[in-house]
Amino acid sequence: MRWEGVIKAYREYLPVTEKTPLLTLNEGNTPLIYAPYLSQRVGARVYLKFEGANPTGSFKDRGMVVAVAKALEEGARAVICASTGNTSAAAAAYAAKAGLKCVVLIPEGNIALGKLAQALFYGAKVIAIKGNFDEALKLVREIGKNHPIAIVNSINPYRIEGQKTAAFEICDVLGDAPDYLFIPVGNAGNITAYWRGFKQYYDFGKTKKLPKMMGFEAEGAAAIVKGEPIPNPETIATAIRIGNPASWQGAVAAANESGGKISYVTDEEIIEAYRLLARKEGLMAEPASAASVAGLLKYRREHEFNQDDVVVLVLTGHGLKDPDNALKQNANQPAVVEPDYNEVLKIIL
Ligand code: F0G
Repeated sequence: MRWEGVIKAYREYLPVTEKTPLLTLNEGNTPLIYAPYLSQRVGARVYLKFEGANPTGSFKDRGMVVAVAKALEEGARAVICASTGNTSAAAAAYAAKAGLKCVVLIPEGNIALGKLAQALFYGAKVIAIKGNFDEALKLVREIGKNHPIAIVNSINPYRIEGQKTAAFEICDVLGDAPDYLFIPVGNAGNITAYWRGFKQYYDFGKTKKLPKMMGFEAEGAAAIVKGEPIPNPETIATAIRIGNPASWQGAVAAANESGGKISYVTDEEIIEAYRLLARKEGLMAEPASAASVAGLLKYRREHEFNQDDVVVLVLTGHGLKDPDNALKQNANQPAVVEPDYNEVLKIIL
């Protein structure tokens, strides 16, 4: 069957009606890729949910399509969001497709190059604030309260609803829920969405078990782990450079109800996992996504899996989003030579 996006595929589980426009960029249906190296290393069956395969290169498309479709249904003319980059790219793309205006607030100097290029190129009005994501989100909440513009951050419940479809896809492919889900945590919307999705499929009798939800913040932005907001969050993984997650309670509930945990990984662990993923599994994900891989390796240092445990790692965004880090974290630079047979051969041999 032809895939036509998450609203069409999962409409009975989504808050949509006949009046909701069937907006789509054919998001979703992303590959669940078996990871032989990681499986062998940790002693379980490890799969990678490659969300970089979405139309704007991140999982945000799943929630954005529902949020923008509902905004259209409700007569909105414009949407606004604060973003560390991926949400702004998704908002700009879906607003373009829907014919809506789009405004995005980003933290100046702390957004990956590809994401900035996307938001600008899809035609959004991009405002770089001299502050961090948390300050940008606070401004967006205020503007949304006072002006007729739809907020499409994950504080918009339709975003979480759309994002839960990734959990459905994993269960549809595996035939049941996995035993563990490892996922990066920034604003905490995605872990909240996955947990809702897994619970919903379980309640509908589509699965027989629920996964342990293992969420990972970056150490310099680990507000949930530390139990208090962090005024100046810092991490190389700019996507999750967030000091006061909006869905804090959702993340804590997911971890507690599932028997999982919210932990953190260091920037060194993130970088190591980021490189390992490309070199051992052939997948390029952005640094924030590598937090789930780093989280798996950290967890394995302290715990054993059963051999037949099924473990899914969410790779939230494409590595091409952040070419600066890809180049910076690579020890090798291209060898520059004259276009001469012998010169080239000298390098190869
Ligand atoms: N991974 C990537 C690549 C992200 O862009 C984000 C969040 C996360 C993980 C964390 O997800 O916030 O639901 O816990 N990015 C947001 C943005 C904040 O603005 O693009 P979360």
